[in-house]
Amino acid sequence: MLQIQPESKDTAAAVEALYDRAFGPDRQSKTSYSFRDGVAPVANLSRVALEAGALVGAIRFWPVWIGQDTPALLLGPLGIEPSRQGSGIGRRLIAETLTSAGLAGHRIVLLVGDQRYYEPRGGFRPVAAYGITMDHEMPHRVLGIELVPGALALACGPVRHWTSDMPVGTVPLAVSPSPAG
Ligand SMILES: CC(C)(COP(=O)(O)OP(=O)(O)OC[C@H]1O[C@@H](n2cnc3c(N)ncnc32)[C@H](O)[C@@H]1OP(=O)(O)O)[C@@H](O)C(=O)NCCC(=O)NCCS
Repeated sequence: MLQIQPESKDTAAAVEALYDRAFGPDRQSKTSYSFRDGVAPVANLSRVALEAGALVGAIRFWPVWIGQDTPALLLGPLGIEPSRQGSGIGRRLIAETLTSAGLAGHRIVLLVGDQRYYEPRGGFRPVAAYGITMDHEMPHRVLGIELVPGALALACGPVRHWTSDMPVGTVPLAVSPSPAG
């Protein structure tokens, strides 16, 4: 039976190894990793999937800015153990974490990925139509959803690395990064 639980410090190393198996060892050269440099994942959204106690999937979220002052979540990596891919684990991890993100007050979730996979599992569509861009990424792979109606229409500009020195008042508590575990 599949169990989904928050990622903890105890599982962090195993999650990194799982991501290596799912994506390949060069995964950290992807542009989206630059947004994670020096920033902790959003701890209460990062989850692991276990089957009979064995790690079979993991999902993480990171805080980013869109343009000058719009906070958003960056979904990923989402990785499933190669031998267990195609059995619905990815879909479960996406569904459960998006529900939690909405309840926690997050407004926008972005990711870099394949629309054919992510649109049926969360409604993710290219955000280029809103003027949201990501350097070095093809616009059709930069996808997003709004958890609050109208949130994307208020966002515009490049996706930027999270910094904690943005103008006071623009950072809802819900997107404050917190250490994993
Ligand atoms: C992509 C991935 C996360 C999907 O998770 P999963 O648990 O295997 O997928 P699910 O069981 O939820 O869904 C399976 C379906 O997605 C489809 N699918 C998988 N990757 C796809 C892609 N890139 N594009 C389109 N469809 C895809 C499968 O063909 C399958 O289709 P079916 O239901 O019609 O048979 C997982 O296969 C994985 O870790 N892949 C390697 C790493 C990766 O590419 N991660 C995504 C980028 S963030």
